[in-house]
Parts: sequence; structure tokens; C-alpha cells
Amino acid sequence: MATTPWLLLLCLATAAASSGALQARAQPDNKGFISIDCGFPGTRSYIDSTTELSYAPDAAFTDTGSSHNISVEYMKPQLLLSKRYHDLRSFPDGTRNCYTLRSLVPGLKYLLRATFFYGNYDGLDRIPIFDLHIGVNFWRVVNITNMGYALQLEALVVVPDDLVQVCLINTGAGTPFISGLDLRPLKKTMYPQVTATQGLVLMTRLNFGPRDDSTFVRYPDDPYDRIWTPWINTKIWTVISTKKRVQSIDNDVFEAPTAVMQTAIRPRDVTKNIEFSWDPEPQPNDPSPGYIAIMHFSELQILPINAVRQFYVNLNSELWYPSGFTPTYLYIGATYNNLPSRHNRYNVSINATSNSTLPPIINGVEIFSVISTTNLSTYSQDVYAIMAIKTKYQVQKNWMGDPCIPKTMAWERLTCGYEVTTPHRIKAVDLSVTGLSGDITSSFINLKALQYLNLSNNKLTGSIPDALSQLPSLTVIDLSGNQLSGSIPPGLLKRVQDGSLNFRYENNPNICASDNSCQSAPKRNNKLAIYIVVPLLVVVVMVSLAIVIFFLVRRRQQVNGDRGGCSLQLENRRFTYKQLDMITKGFKRILGRGGFGIVYHGFLEDDTEVAVKLRSRTSKQGVNVFLAEAQILTQIHHKNLVTMIGYCKDGKDMALVYEYMSEGTLQEHIIGRDDNGEGLLDWRQRLRIALESAKGLEYLHTGCSPPLIHMDVKPTNILLNASLEAKIADFGMSKAFKHDKDTHVSTNTLVGTYGYVDPEYLATMQPTTKSDVYSFGVVLLELVTGRPAILPESPMPISIIHWVRSQLAEGNIESVVDACMHGCYDVNSVWKVANIALECTAQVSVERPTINHVVVQLQECLKLEDCYARSDMSGGLYIGSGSHDPNLNNESQDNVTSEMEYVSRRMATRTTDPVAR
Ligand SMILES: *[C@@H]1O[C@H](CO)[C@@H](O)[C@H](O)[C@H]1NC(C)=O
Ligand SMILES: *[C@@H]1O[C@H](CO)[C@@H](O)[C@H](O)[C@H]1NC(C)=O
Ligand SMILES: *[C@@H]1O[C@H](CO)[C@@H](O)[C@H](O)[C@H]1NC(C)=O
Ligand SMILES: *[C@@H]1O[C@H](CO)[C@@H](O)[C@H](O)[C@H]1NC(C)=O
Ligand SMILES: *[C@@H]1O[C@H](CO)[C@@H](O)[C@H](O)[C@H]1NC(C)=O
Ligand SMILES: *[C@@H]1O[C@H](CO)[C@@H](O)[C@H](O)[C@H]1NC(C)=O
Ligand SMILES: *[C@@H]1O[C@H](CO)[C@@H](O)[C@H](O)[C@H]1NC(C)=O
Repeated sequence: MATTPWLLLLCLATAAASSGALQARAQPDNKGFISIDCGFPGTRSYIDSTTELSYAPDAAFTDTGSSHNISVEYMKPQLLLSKRYHDLRSFPDGTRNCYTLRSLVPGLKYLLRATFFYGNYDGLDRIPIFDLHIGVNFWRVVNITNMGYALQLEALVVVPDDLVQVCLINTGAGTPFISGLDLRPLKKTMYPQVTATQGLVLMTRLNFGPRDDSTFVRYPDDPYDRIWTPWINTKIWTVISTKKRVQSIDNDVFEAPTAVMQTAIRPRDVTKNIEFSWDPEPQPNDPSPGYIAIMHFSELQILPINAVRQFYVNLNSELWYPSGFTPTYLYIGATYNNLPSRHNRYNVSINATSNSTLPPIINGVEIFSVISTTNLSTYSQDVYAIMAIKTKYQVQKNWMGDPCIPKTMAWERLTCGYEVTTPHRIKAVDLSVTGLSGDITSSFINLKALQYLNLSNNKLTGSIPDALSQLPSLTVIDLSGNQLSGSIPPGLLKRVQDGSLNFRYENNPNICASDNSCQSAPKRNNKLAIYIVVPLLVVVVMVSLAIVIFFLVRRRQQVNGDRGGCSLQLENRRFTYKQLDMITKGFKRILGRGGFGIVYHGFLEDDTEVAVKLRSRTSKQGVNVFLAEAQILTQIHHKNLVTMIGYCKDGKDMALVYEYMSEGTLQEHIIGRDDNGEGLLDWRQRLRIALESAKGLEYLHTGCSPPLIHMDVKPTNILLNASLEAKIADFGMSKAFKHDKDTHVSTNTLVGTYGYVDPEYLATMQPTTKSDVYSFGVVLLELVTGRPAILPESPMPISIIHWVRSQLAEGNIESVVDACMHGCYDVNSVWKVANIALECTAQVSVERPTINHVVVQLQECLKLEDCYARSDMSGGLYIGSGSHDPNLNNESQDNVTSEMEYVSRRMATRTTDPVAR
């Protein structure tokens, strides 16, 4: 059987993978730590004497670069340079070279620390400058300012997959190199400022008033192996310390180690404040980076009765923490900002409040800048598969880092599909004429989105794996010009026969076209090559664009049923035609016209403003339908659905009376009511409207049993009242009679509006609640962009969904956001809404979220926006502690801005090894 060798092959492959000794070691230890001594030769780890952590050589983590020793003048024993700095790995070839750290917990937060000590290893006496990336996101420019400096860069990030890559990018200013790389897991709850889209880059982490000013607190004193730099200047500061344990508190999100918290400083001159400052460091992609500061406080003295220690924390002379802060005796406390603060300079001053009888103190501080981690890496299964293929065939080329991202460094010979909300996928692999040998690896069948595979003109041997036929999207396989043998597997033959596969295998002398011919000796030149051109299956992807449909209104079946879930309150009033005439003062003021008839403005006896929709006598809609729909409307009650106040059936005259929505439709507000931009909504208002509309839909979908599908969600069917509260209208009733230019009436046919209709419903004629979710996604996109559902682009109108997807694929949210909002929004919340919208508009309904999920997501966005608005006013920071002293200012600033160039400072001033401790 053709399948047997393949099975065997699979087993062999598995066996080989699990016996890979190197691979096994490229993994975290029992604490989840990975500690790499880059450039260290061999395969054996060693134990670092100070931390007792095991440092591994780097061969299992990277497959390029070369190992070097630093030059002898930097190796002097009296420098006590830790062992990992004695060697390094440099990367003279390729633009991007990476370390891959595996077996991580997807979604967990990690501390990553890269160290660099040049030590004139290449004898050039010239320090290179290069970029460092975490996966597909920029981390930092590595710019070491002094030959004898060891630079340590630390980042806290969420790792989305079970592996993370740290990549060195050659930017043309010297050969990148690295001395050490550490990874430490953090708890999910720690550092709430670290999110899936934002990481923190450490600027400084200080332990004030250390017991021993040459000792760095790190593992095991800090179980997360953060490195706390000792800081003291006894001329200005008095140290306060305790030997007692400083307790953690509930929900402690920083877990500052007790060794750091047991010491603090206060001004020697008790009338002074604590002050320190730093300047922002512009980054190439972020000229004014945002900063997060975390200050750690604990009272270490038992205060006498009537003594009070309370202080203000000020940033740039404004209160940063809103009230006076009193540290608790032997308990951890921290003040910090949640949203990054952006200023030209940061002057922090901690001063005693007027009630305080004691000077301020501070135990520790951490200052970070934020980086964006919004760029999505390629779908992880694809990454694993292509990495395995790379290993199997020893592919050289530029195959390092993420296969698809950034586009400028995408792997040669691959074609990727760039998606926005879902990770990028590998669509085509062309390894023709690349000297591949051995068999066809099973890893190809893990590239589940593969459409095109060309392995022609290599030296491949063995049989053709039938499993390739199971790749759902594969339309082309070219295996011609190899040394493959055996028969064409049945699965592939079948796909060739049913026309879904273009399969080439000519010039493989040992392949036989059918099973029985395999008995005979190797064929002469095989002339039986099958070459079937298959017209690409035109997928219904562009459905919402390409198909112009006559959308026909059909009365919904489900509305007839017993509506157990919706509260059945028939308190609605029935009006006579005469009453309506009075209410509308003789049908005077027209609010609008629709297929159903005309909508008039009116007042009830109690002066309630109403809208009266009068059925035109020429309306095609039947009387029974009208009544049935009115019945439903009386049963739906939700504050985000337009309320029906009553109805009228008086002979041939029929009407519905609704609450009056003075601000009209959302449509009018998106496009803007007039040229002055009057009536345009700001981002917060848009978010609120989105959330309220979603809640209305949520009620229809889950508050009613069976669920009610609106079928025509769009901005013209979302009405706004005087306080801009959104209510969904035109569900059921009104739509059944709708008859305007883009909507046609009929029964048992499609319902909806061009540009908003769920393509799956279109294909199946079977609407689901996800059909509403799809339309709602389009509304969200209109809210974000201020553009209509169908953009009048030439040569062909294009759906807003495709437009936003293509724009976001370039990574730039700003390009799609409605310019009328003038940049007044939190980018995170806009980005999030765009993502929700794109999820809602997924082609396949199962991939769309439920409306309940959308409501939850939008609530989070509104929270983000609230924080943004608040931070705007407060300067965005919370810190804690205060003594005025210009010297501290200078010295601490030095500390703060020097990017932890520990070794050199220590080397210059003391002969200890700071890094290893
Ligand atoms: C680095 O130095 C060690 C001894 O200190 C030596 O064994 C090793 O061969 C050197 N490596 C290189 C690449 O020169
Ligand atoms: C994200 O990708 C874009 C396009 O490749 C790039 O310009 C941008 O710098 C990246 N962002 C980060 C944070 O790396
Ligand atoms: C590197 O640092 C030096 C000194 O701080 C600075 O002058 C230079 O502009 C930096 N280079 C880059 C590329 O950041
Ligand atoms: C910070 O303090 C310095 C020195 O006291 C002063 O020159 C500067 O204007 C201050 N900056 C801000 C933003 O307050
Ligand atoms: C402390 O700082 C605050 C805010 O800058 C200021 O209003 C207050 O007067 C200061 N208090 C003392 C006692 O200096
Ligand atoms: C200072 O004490 C007074 C009286 O006890 C109190 O009303 C006031 O709120 C206190 N001020 C601060 C900043 O705590
Ligand atoms: C596969 O690659 C070869 C060599 O690059 C090329 O000639 C051939 O047309 C490709 N096959 C297909 C089906 O595209």
C-alpha cells in the first residue's frame, strides 16, 4: 500500500524529534527560567556561583552566528566579570538572526533580559549599533556607549505563543552580537500595565538604602530574578531598615522582594523632599515614549503615638497620586500609573503633607517605558511546521525569525496571506531547485493553509505522502524532476480526478502512475505526467462586493411563534384615527418617509413627543402582517430598542406610535449633519452608541426565546434620542414594509441591505443571530472610520471590510480612523474596536463572536477610553513618597538614565561583580 511507507516515515520523524538531546535542553528549568550564556561552547550547562542558576550554552537556541571570546584585556580577574561575559555570539551574516525560546505558556507574562558586553572581541575597537526585536515587535536599539560597559536590556511582555524569538537586526552599523539571554516567567496578575498589546522596557530598578551598596538583589531573594540596583548617598540620605519581614498584601501586583522593602531612605535634613528626575529617551519608532513608574513604600519603624508619616507624590509640580500617602508598617505598598505618561521631562518630588510629623521615605522604584506589541506574528502551527521543514532540509537563505513578518524580512520562497485579526498564514512554499534531498517531510501537512507547493527539480527520494491530499486549500503540487518512487497515492489521485488539484510529477523515473504497474521495473521516461489545469475555485470571499443582489424583504417566521422569553406586556395603547389626527395636529410635521408610509411628529396629551408611522393605503403590505408585527413590537422592551407606545387599526387606517428620537439616525451623525461638522460624534460617544446598540441586539438574541434576528442592522436603523442614547429601530414591523431604493419587497427571499448582509446567509438563505453580528461589525467599522459601508473607489466600489483589512495589514490604525475625531481617542480602544469589527465580519459565521461577547469587549473599550480621558486630566501617573536635594537629582538621574550599565560603573568604582549577583 502506498500509505505504509508514509506511516513509517511519520514514526521515524517522531522518533528523531524526541531523541534530539539538544532540543530537550533548549527549554525552561523547573522554575520556568531559561538562562543562556551566548557563545559558550559545547553542550553542557554550568552553575553560576552567585545565583546558583544553571547557564546553558546557546547552540540549542540559535543556528547561526559564530562564537567568540572577548579580548584578553577585558578578562582581568580583578574585574570579576561574570563568566557569561567572557564569550559572545556575533552574527555577521543575514539581516535578522534570532534566538528561539520554547516550551513557554501561551498568554503568560515573561521577563526577558538580554545582555551585551563588547569587550573588543573582534579587535576592531568599534562598538556596533543594531536593533533588538521580541518576535515581530521592536524592542530597543542596542547602543552601547562605552567599550567596557555591559548593557542589560529588560522587557516585560505577554508571550502569545508557546515560543518567543529574540532577534538581532543588522541595521548597517556593525555586526550584531549578544552575550546573554534570560527568560523568567511572571504571574499573569503582575504588572497590569503589561498587556497583549503593550510591553514594558526597564529603564531602572533601584533598591534604596541597601545593606551593602555593592550587592544587587536578585534571585533567589527576588523569586522572579529581577535585578535591583543598590542606591545610596549617605551625605544626603539616612537609611532606615529593619530585619523583620515585610509582608505582602492581597492582590500585590508587583511582589517587591522583602530584601528590597526592608531598607528605605529619608532625607537627612527632615525638612527636605525626596526628588528625582529623568528625561525621556526618544526611540526611532516612538519619539516621545510613554513612561510607567512604580514606587515601593513600606513603613519600617514603629511610630510613636501622635506621630504621622504622610506625603504627597508630585510629578512636574502637580499631584501625581491624588491624596496623601501613608506607608503601612511592615506591609508592601506601591503607587504607580496604569497608563503611560508622556512629558518632556519627569521631575518627581515627594513632600510631607502638613499633617505629617515625619519626613517622607522611599524603599524602591522601577521606571519603564512602554513599547507596542500589537504586531501579530504568523499562525504558530505554521511557524512550527516551517521551522521543522527548515531543519529537515537545512535550508539556508534568510529563514530566521517570523516567516511572514515584517514583510521586508519575510522568508524567501514563501508566500504569506496577511490577515488582520487572525494571524498570518503561509499560503505558498516554493522550494524548487534548492537541492533538497531525503524524503518529503510530514511537516508539509501541518501547513494547513497551504495552497501551492513546488518541490520540483530537487533530489527528493521516497514515496509521495498521501496525507498531502488532506490539505484543504492545496490546489497545486509540483514534485517533478525528483527521484521519488512508488505509486501516486489514491487520495491525491482522487483530488486530481475531481479537478481540485493540479498535480505534477513528471521526470521522477521511479514513479508509476497506477498501482499495478509498480510491479514492473523502473519505467522509461514517464510520459504519463498528469497536468490538469484547474480553474481556481472562486471562493465567495468577495461576496458582499461582487454580487449585486436584490434584497427582498421577507417576513420573519420566528416572530409568529410563542415568545415566552420576552416579557408580555400588552399595556400599549390602541389609538383611533381621530386621536392620531389630534396627536399630529392634522398630520402636519413630516419626519420622514419610507416604504411603509409617512412618519409624522406629534404630542400625546401629556406632551410626550412621539413619532407616528402611518401606513400608506397603497402599501403592498398586508393587514395581517401589519397586525402580527405590531403584536411583536408590543412585547419587546429594552432601553436600547425603540419603544412602541401604541398602534392604530381603524378601518383601513393603520399606524404605529413610537417614542420620538430627536437626534435622528446614527447615519446622519456619522456622515455629519452639516458642513460645520455640527452633530459629529467624538470617539467616546461613538463607543457608547456602539455598546448600547450591541446591548439592544443582545436582548433580541438572548433575551427572547426563540432568538429574534433583526436582519437589517445598519446606521439608518439606529436612532438617537436627545441625550444621544442609541436605540435600534425598524426591527420586524417597519422593515416588513420597507420599500426604498436598495431594498425590495417580497416574501421568502433575502432580507437586508447591500453592504451589510452576511455572506453565509446569502449562500444558505438561512439567517442566524451571527448574521446580525456581521452587519453590526460593518456598523462598527463605519463608527471607527466615518466612511460608508461601500466605498465608492474606482474602478470598483469596495466594501469597507476589505478596505479596513487591507489598511490594517499595513499596521497603521491611524490611516483608517475618522480624521474628524482629530486624534482625540485612546489608540488602544480604537484598535480594539477595529479588531472586534473584523472578528464580527469574518466570512464564516462560527468564527464570529456572539453579541454577548461583543458587548463585553465594547465595555472594556469604554473603560480604556475612560482611563484615557482621566489620565489626560491628571497627567496619568500615580507615584508615592518627597526631599529636596539637587545632588540627589543629579545622581539619581545618572542612575536612572544609564540603562543599567552596571558592569562598567562597578568596574570603575569597586572591584566586585555586580552582574552575577
Ligand atoms: C575561548 O577561550 C577558551 C579558554 O578560555 C578556549 O578554550 C576557547 O577555545 C576560546 N574560544 C574561542 C572561540 O577562541
Ligand atoms: C509593526 O510592523 C510595522 C510594519 O512592518 C512596522 O513598521 C512597525 O514598526 C512594527 N511595530 C513594532 C512595534 O515593531
Ligand atoms: C547612540 O548613542 C550615542 C551616544 O548616546 C548617540 O549620540 C547616538 O545618536 C546613538 N545612536 C543611535 C543610532 O541611537
Ligand atoms: C524639572 O526640574 C528642572 C530642574 O529643577 C527644571 O529646570 C525643569 O523645568 C523641571 N521640568 C518640569 C517639566 O517641571
Ligand atoms: C507638597 O506639594 C504639593 C503639590 O505640589 C503642594 O501643594 C504642597 O504645598 C507641598 N507641601 C509642602 C508641605 O511643601
Ligand atoms: C490633616 O488632618 C486634618 C485633621 O485631622 C484632616 O481633616 C485632613 O484631611 C488631613 N489632611 C490630609 C492631607 O490627610
Ligand atoms: C515550479 O517551479 C519550477 C522552477 O522554478 C517552475 O518551472 C514550475 O513552473 C513551477 N511549477 C508550478 C506548477 O508552478
